[in-house]
Amino acid sequence: MLTRIRSGIPGLDDVLGGGIPEGYLVLVSGTTGVGKTVMLAQFIYKGATDYGQKGVFVTFEETPSEIEAEMKGFGWDFAKLVKRKQVTFVDFTDPSFLIEGGRRASAVVRRFMDSVREAVNKIGAKRVAIDGLPALALLFKAESSVLRLLLRAIRFELSKLGVTTLLSTEIVEGSGMISRYGVEELVAQGVIVLSERIVGGHCQRILHVKKLRGSPITRRVCVYDIVPGEGMVVYPKAIIA
Ligand SMILES: Nc1ncnc2c1ncn2[C@@H]1O[C@H](COP(=O)(O)OP(=O)(O)OP(=O)(O)O)[C@@H](O)[C@H]1O
Ligand SMILES: [Mg+2]
Repeated sequence: MLTRIRSGIPGLDDVLGGGIPEGYLVLVSGTTGVGKTVMLAQFIYKGATDYGQKGVFVTFEETPSEIEAEMKGFGWDFAKLVKRKQVTFVDFTDPSFLIEGGRRASAVVRRFMDSVREAVNKIGAKRVAIDGLPALALLFKAESSVLRLLLRAIRFELSKLGVTTLLSTEIVEGSGMISRYGVEELVAQGVIVLSERIVGGHCQRILHVKKLRGSPITRRVCVYDIVPGEGMVVYPKAIIA
């Protein structure tokens, strides 16, 4: 039996068969603007405030202060959690540290993991969010087979740390793929795909769980929304025609 943790996203745990399996690396994949950053921030914020699990938020595209400012719209005070050492940001928006001494893929990934490990150990985190995997992969040139091996190494390291992780990656619009490089979903133990569809001139946000190893999942495509003052909300029972 898998031990599960609450995601902090209303409706999502039902779709996942009861929550996110503890220690898993789950990929959150989607085109731009679908709410990947909001989802990861909510997982970390609610983990700290509602479930007693400290969190590390690793960011590549937006600075911690940008994220803090955006998330205030949901009533989430990240600065307070940082002050109380319930949340730590790892800021890679300036990646110079990661490429110090060269862009060899394995060295970049090692420096990345050292920083994440240090942050996790410093506060005793149980949750990690890594927002923007493609930005890490852009720092080195690696064949997809190498990227797959490196990602697997990251997954094993995170699992050794005992944390549950959400990792976001992009889908290029119209590519027909569910990730940027086509290997992320193979390595992750779970995959949540966020997308949109046009219904009656309105852009509806939809979610489906592509896989969750060792767990039954709802195969249904679910409607979700990003609600001011609340964050991401999944509606597992909303019928998609
Ligand atoms: N504070 C807020 N209040 C209400 N809605 C918000 C708020 N912050 C974000 N949103 C909504 O969520 C949408 C997507 O946010 P988010 O930045 O999480 O997407 P993303 O998938 O991470 O995009 P990107 O590809 O730019 O990283 C925004 O376009 C906006 O509609
Ligand atoms: Mg984002």
